[in-house]
Amino acid sequence: MATLGIDFGTSNTAAGIAPDGVPRLIALEADAQTLPTAVFFDAEAKEMLLGAAASEALLAGAEGRYMRGLKSLLGTSLMREKRLLLAERLDFIDIVARFLARVKDRAEAATGQQFTAALSGRPVRFHSANDRRDAQALEDLREAYARAGFDRVDFMNEPEAAALANRQALRPGDLGLVVDIGGGTSDFTLFRQGGTDEIDILASYGIRLGGTDFDRSLSIGRVMPQLGMGSEIRHSFGDGTHLAPNAIFNDLATWAKIPFLYGPETRRAAADLLKYAEHPKRLARLVKVLDEELGHDLAFAVEAGKIRANEAEGEAEPVIDVSMLKPRATLPLPRDWVRKRLDPLAQQIGMAAETTLQKAEIDPAAVDRLIFVGGSSLMQVVEAALRERFPRAELHRGAALTAIVEGLALCSSMDVRG
Ligand SMILES: Nc1ncnc2c1ncn2[C@@H]1O[C@H](COP(=O)(O)OP(=O)(O)OP(=O)(O)O)[C@@H](O)[C@H]1O
Ligand SMILES: [Mg+2]
Repeated sequence: MATLGIDFGTSNTAAGIAPDGVPRLIALEADAQTLPTAVFFDAEAKEMLLGAAASEALLAGAEGRYMRGLKSLLGTSLMREKRLLLAERLDFIDIVARFLARVKDRAEAATGQQFTAALSGRPVRFHSANDRRDAQALEDLREAYARAGFDRVDFMNEPEAAALANRQALRPGDLGLVVDIGGGTSDFTLFRQGGTDEIDILASYGIRLGGTDFDRSLSIGRVMPQLGMGSEIRHSFGDGTHLAPNAIFNDLATWAKIPFLYGPETRRAAADLLKYAEHPKRLARLVKVLDEELGHDLAFAVEAGKIRANEAEGEAEPVIDVSMLKPRATLPLPRDWVRKRLDPLAQQIGMAAETTLQKAEIDPAAVDRLIFVGGSSLMQVVEAALRERFPRAELHRGAALTAIVEGLALCSSMDVRG
């Protein structure tokens, strides 16, 4: 029975095996080792696209329903809600299952093997503060693997997989801390390099905070006010004004919530806000975004702005490209502003790293190496928040997007799963 290692990420998914103890990643689309965790139900072609093809169809303006960040919905009541997609009634577990089934198909086509079992990554905590929801998230994911056609699925903490993949970056006896900052969660594993191939895992910990939260914060700070968030709305009866309610704007700034905004109630609420708005120009943009289903286009623009603002100083001032709202329009995104805005989130990540050390009752000064993986570990604010807490540790950058799947692939071949 062959086992496929799968890192089902909030933003990116990867799969791999390790036939001779060497991780071999499977090209899930074209030559790419990672596949954006996104689907597009194409209304015209009547098919589900995934990965880059899904995002291309969205950005090309094809008719259909796009979804990204599905992992964030695991454990919530939304997972079991059925919706009509391409003439089928599907819940979100079905959608995740279909995504995983396509990963399975592609892995089988690429290797000529059949995978009846999966070794899947999981964040240490899907939901930081809610045990019941956290347990439900794992059950939801387990069910999705079953519906995808896997007879068996085992789970491994994502940062523990990254520790295994990066163990050779440590000298024998060294203490390492994996810092895996992804799209949806931040995960940590403290471990000691044993000398041979073994590692000793001392503690793992995680919180529900990642790059999509950075996107949300930047969107709420920079983009949503331009759509009327926080602006005055006149009362429909009598004098006076109140502020536009935040809920629509918060959801519009949140990757996984965007598809839920395109129903008639939200559109009606937005039209009402426009009718009584003190700043009708701004609320007219909100109405346009909902009518033309531009929520994801905006989210992509914010994410791209975030990545540009994080790049080296000296280049032109970063901007968010909002040309979908108005031709050639941009919003400035000064680097200093981004740093200040994201620092509180980076501090939460730093504190979670400290909690990991407290769980093992080890002093942060004892850590020899920080091993950075996950796309959001590339953020300067994250690096700063970690360096100040572990001043003695050397920084080692693992493969940002593939360290976890490499560890899962290794472990799937070693058969040392617990
Ligand atoms: N060059 C970069 N600079 C800053 N952030 C980046 C960069 N490249 C990718 N990211 C961010 O990294 C995140 C995706 O990272 P990754 O693929 O590790 O997450 P994931 O594994 O899918 O999520 P998770 O592990 O939380 O479920 C996104 O939020 C993305 O915007
Ligand atoms: Mg990840």
